[in-house]
Amino acid sequence: MRLLYATETGTAAELSQLVAEHFAKYISHLKVLELCDYDQTQLPLEDIVLFIISTTGDGEVYSDMRNFWRFLLLKNLPAHSLSQVQYAVFGLGDSSYLRFNAAARKLDKRLQHLGARPLLPIKLGDEQERNGLEGALQDWLVQLTDKLQLEEVRMNPSTDGVFYYYRVKESLQSVKSTSIDKWNAGECCSSQQFFWEAKVISNQLLVEEDCEHEVRQISLNIENSSITYKPGDVVYIYPKNSVAEVGKLIKMMGYNPKQVLEVERLNDIAPVLNLSCPCTLESLVASQFDLYALPRRTFFRKLAKFAKDSEERDRLLYFSTSEGADDFRHCRPCIEDLIQFLPPLRPRPFSIASSPTYHSGTLQVCVSIVKYQDCFGFWRQGVCSSFLKRSKCGDVIPVFVKRGSLKFPQVTDKKPCIMIGPGTGVAPFRSYLWECFAHHRYIVTQDSCRILFFGFAHCIF
Ligand SMILES: Cc1cc2nc3c(=O)[nH]c(=O)nc-3n(C[C@H](O)[C@H](O)[C@H](O)COP(=O)(O)OP(=O)(O)OC[C@H]3O[C@@H](n4cnc5c(N)ncnc54)[C@H](O)[C@@H]3O)c2cc1C
Ligand SMILES: Cc1cc2nc3c(=O)[nH]c(=O)nc-3n(C[C@H](O)[C@H](O)[C@H](O)COP(=O)(O)O)c2cc1C
Repeated sequence: MRLLYATETGTAAELSQLVAEHFAKYISHLKVLELCDYDQTQLPLEDIVLFIISTTGDGEVYSDMRNFWRFLLLKNLPAHSLSQVQYAVFGLGDSSYLRFNAAARKLDKRLQHLGARPLLPIKLGDEQERNGLEGALQDWLVQLTDKLQLEEVRMNPSTDGVFYYYRVKESLQSVKSTSIDKWNAGECCSSQQFFWEAKVISNQLLVEEDCEHEVRQISLNIENSSITYKPGDVVYIYPKNSVAEVGKLIKMMGYNPKQVLEVERLNDIAPVLNLSCPCTLESLVASQFDLYALPRRTFFRKLAKFAKDSEERDRLLYFSTSEGADDFRHCRPCIEDLIQFLPPLRPRPFSIASSPTYHSGTLQVCVSIVKYQDCFGFWRQGVCSSFLKRSKCGDVIPVFVKRGSLKFPQVTDKKPCIMIGPGTGVAPFRSYLWECFAHHRYIVTQDSCRILFFGFAHCIF
């Protein structure tokens, strides 16, 4: 059985982990791959394939899924070429978009055209639903397990409900730098995406000092990278947690921040480590785990296994069935157990606001700093936007660029173009307008007209 997923911002990858954890109780041979890493010509030979597919852009298939999609659309593919294959599709989408779950629905339809046999009707996860995507996924898993008539067995790596992604050993070696401000990254974040180290050139406030909503422009030097980009493209930025937040968590858990660790990935679905080992515990937590992510229900269920206080355990189990969060001071898993279920720190996408020609060698983003009060009254900050806010000239930030779904007319195209980009949504249009300017030194002439509508809810840039 194989699980293939397509993700733009990481949610489908996280849900795929939950599916793998679920099936680890039953079978030992579930192979999980991102669609862009899968050799699509093998599809007709598969037995059972599960798809976890998100929809992005304007109802489009996710960019790294395009090769797979092109293969499925090949005209010379016989009508029953997938008749050996049984499959099930789980879609990730948001019903507030016009083309709800379009990518998953297109895939399901095409698989059936090619003779593949659905194990279940397609399941459309909806971010707007009260139980969210995870609730829909749990229902789907129950139905799927039933359909496959799987018998529960106890086997590694799933023991007592904790799925082990990493093996952690204390190390006596010293590490080159224990500073958690040093990015100690490896070379690639997935088999497809190589990241580059970009240097911060400037970090500029774009709104008035007293504006309640902070927006900043971050300029990065990319001269020493092979990054190329076009207007409409998106840069993914790897953040780090703040020193203060890392310190708070480690202190609360009673760990030693300078403890040197060897961390080994145990399987392919374990998120790739963003730093080389051995590393200190503080640098691991700073660069690997999202301390502000909304916890998934499974997080509470897993944490409950480590609760020494029965009241806390009951509360955690309660939270695993509905939403919630609290301070569980007596719940102290060891480091190895804890890192199995802390949510991974994922790179965040930002629309590129600069022009590849006019701002040659530079990449700019326009960042709205996320800060809000949660339901308990605590002030929370967005991990990546606050990381960028803290960044100083000369800091090195790991980034990679992906083609965006927004496509612009050629700079030479004379058709009129109306653009609407409120707030930081103006970024790709700024990129395009500077690109036009770099080529022609004009944006508006008698025969080419480009109009941008821009607004900002708080105060003027
Ligand atoms: C294609 C694309 C392009 C993008 N381009 C830009 C861009 O140009 N500029 C830009 O600033 N951003 C852009 N974003 C958004 C950006 O990727 C990040 O999501 C954003 O910066 C927040 O990341 P963060 O790490 O700071 O916040 P996170 O740590 O990820 O926190 C965000 C989470 O905090 C919670 N939250 C936030 N506000 C509240 C609230 N008021 N109440 C309760 N919970 C809340 C929500 O759960 C939210 O998901 C883009 C996103 C996409 C998908
Ligand atoms: C820029 C953007 C465009 C989206 N477009 C659609 C869409 O057209 N239809 C839809 O159903 N969901 C859409 N979504 C919602 C995503 O499918 C949903 O958030 C999903 O959980 C993302 O999964 P991922 O993190 O694996 O990419 C969009 C989300 C974003 C951020």
